[in-house]
Amino acid sequence: MADSALHLLQPEQLDADGLKVLNPANGSVVATVRRFDVPELETIIEQAEAARHPWAARTAKERSDVLRAWYDLLRENAEDLARLMTLESGKPLDEARGEVRYGAAFVEWFSEEARRAYGEVIPSHASDKRVLTLRQPVGTCAAITPWNFPLAMITRKVAPALAAGCSIVVKPANATPLSALALESLAHRAGIPAALFRVVPARSSSQAGDLFCTHRLIRKISFTGSTEVGKVIMAKAAGQVKRLSLELGGNAPFIVFDDADLDRAVAGAMASRFRNAGQTCVCANRFIVQAGIHDAFVERLGAKVAALRVEDGLDVDATMGPLIDQGAVERVAGLVETAVREGAAIANEAPVVPASGAFHRPVVLVDVTTDMEIAHEEIFGPVAPVLRFSDESDALRIANDTPFGLAAYVFTADAARQWRMMEGLEYGMVGVNDGLISTEVAPFGGIKESGFGREGSSHGLADYMNIKYCLLGGL
Ligand code: SIN
Repeated sequence: MADSALHLLQPEQLDADGLKVLNPANGSVVATVRRFDVPELETIIEQAEAARHPWAARTAKERSDVLRAWYDLLRENAEDLARLMTLESGKPLDEARGEVRYGAAFVEWFSEEARRAYGEVIPSHASDKRVLTLRQPVGTCAAITPWNFPLAMITRKVAPALAAGCSIVVKPANATPLSALALESLAHRAGIPAALFRVVPARSSSQAGDLFCTHRLIRKISFTGSTEVGKVIMAKAAGQVKRLSLELGGNAPFIVFDDADLDRAVAGAMASRFRNAGQTCVCANRFIVQAGIHDAFVERLGAKVAALRVEDGLDVDATMGPLIDQGAVERVAGLVETAVREGAAIANEAPVVPASGAFHRPVVLVDVTTDMEIAHEEIFGPVAPVLRFSDESDALRIANDTPFGLAAYVFTADAARQWRMMEGLEYGMVGVNDGLISTEVAPFGGIKESGFGREGSSHGLADYMNIKYCLLGGL
């Protein structure tokens, strides 16, 4: 029997012959959704372009009010949105509830920011001239979003785009289109014009991506996903010099100094590494732990990991769910196997893990060294590799020795060292004595091969606006 949370979807979003959405906890079909092919996408982009002009002509307050109405509907339907998300992504219901709150917070934030897209009057270089800037919407945008946060990765692109006066077409991940479609249907119920924000599961992801990169009406693409695909988008979009925001892969270091508060460091490690079963771009990917605290840290972390309840995300006790699919399980198992062959050892007792479904046991690996594959690969699974270091410069060198630069974490009680690390870590985001850095009020984004552009905060709105400089002469 169909799940009651599916009432959030509209009949026109479903199609019995369409894309099958599977529950990773048991492989069952949750729903079958409509897919769009290239000619349909072209029409949708043209409609989005036509819709953006009257939308941008509304006052900022009017746009803000409609976004606020969308936020209210997200909050009213939070429980069903969370259930839908657990069904398609596997994450425990409590985490899904957290993501609905997190995702809705971007809509609330940008409904407020819509009214603060200020231009400037700049003191002039000449007495008969005035210099000013206007901020104007970029135009019609496209977004390509991942399966690991099927709701929040959409609201943090769509809400600033709409607040700025843009239109936006979103291609969600094939594994998790249901949260995206529910967002779309609630947005339309809230009064966001239908053509202004569309969610389009694609018949062919690569063809949809190519179309976004080459369609003359698309002025900006925002992508969250792998560095590999981000580079392809960057190359293809270069043909029309499209504006881009790329939130790509990471290899986050999590540094623990001898003077760290051990309880805090372990709690931060659990939150950072095992949230969403480790399938997060900002997850701690390498634990770099000073020799004096190493054994105590590993022992405490191992005990917490052994106590995880790995179950179907809908089970009330679940603290970790399945991975997204069987392919992900095999990839993670392969990384662990290689690490053990290269000399690492598993340091924790394994919790009981369901025999069927896309589950992988959570693992703490010790004796990991910088030359091992696991120290360089983005794991995207519940595995915590622990490396040992001796002094601060050693820690910084290991942490920065990667082409990625998304998030980094450091645990130390020494205030001067906190500053040195904040300044020395070559990352877009640094968490000090905390493993959870994500919030709508802060600029989320990376440097180096982790991408560019910022989501959340006032910078998130600026990413959907052009600055136009105007000179008023003859005064
Ligand atoms: C991501 O994994 O890409 C985003 C995680 C977050 O927003 O915390």
